[in-house]
Amino acid sequence: MAVYDCLLDELKTSYAKSGNEYAKAYTSWRRYSTRPFISGTHGGRYVQNYANETAKAYALYENAGEMPAGSVLAKPSFSVSSKTGKASLGPLFLMEKMEDGWYPKSDDWRYSMIMPNGQIVGATKGKGAENVEFCIQCHKIGTPKNIDSMMFVPKNLRVR
Ligand code: HEC
Repeated sequence: MAVYDCLLDELKTSYAKSGNEYAKAYTSWRRYSTRPFISGTHGGRYVQNYANETAKAYALYENAGEMPAGSVLAKPSFSVSSKTGKASLGPLFLMEKMEDGWYPKSDDWRYSMIMPNGQIVGATKGKGAENVEFCIQCHKIGTPKNIDSMMFVPKNLRVR
């Protein structure tokens, strides 16, 4: 999708303003979606899924099992106006696996949401934690079929 290629630099520099190390690094990680897809559960925006080297078992999708500490999953987003065709950046969604027992309620994942202006909306057990509580509600509790709180990429859009 050409629009994504155009946005890539802008996404990267925008999220990087947050100072979050993964917001800077994720574009060099392996991407697991073949193209941007609309994610109804992340604001109806286009998203892509990335995982770092430690999270390489993500490639096994439903057989991934429990992720090791240090695994990070990143999901940049954007939307395209149906009226003007103009693309605009959306938040960056991050899941970071912490050490065993860090927060059993979230399967030890730290969720964060970073706005395109670099503002961090919240992070699990950190500042604005209440703003990302709904991530846990869906990933762990609301979707019984999750694997270690992960839901992966629609089957027809997976990089194999
Ligand atoms: C209502 C359910 C729901 C909510 C709320 C939700 N997610 Fe997700 N999330 C999903 C689903 C379903 C997928 C996989 C398919 C997709 O992206 O649409 C996913 C995928 C992801 C992924 C890729 C890793 C994976 O699970 O395969 C990340 C990272 C992510 N979400 C982060 C977040 C963050 C951060 C929040 C909160 C700010 C959040 N999500 C809120 C349902 C949800």
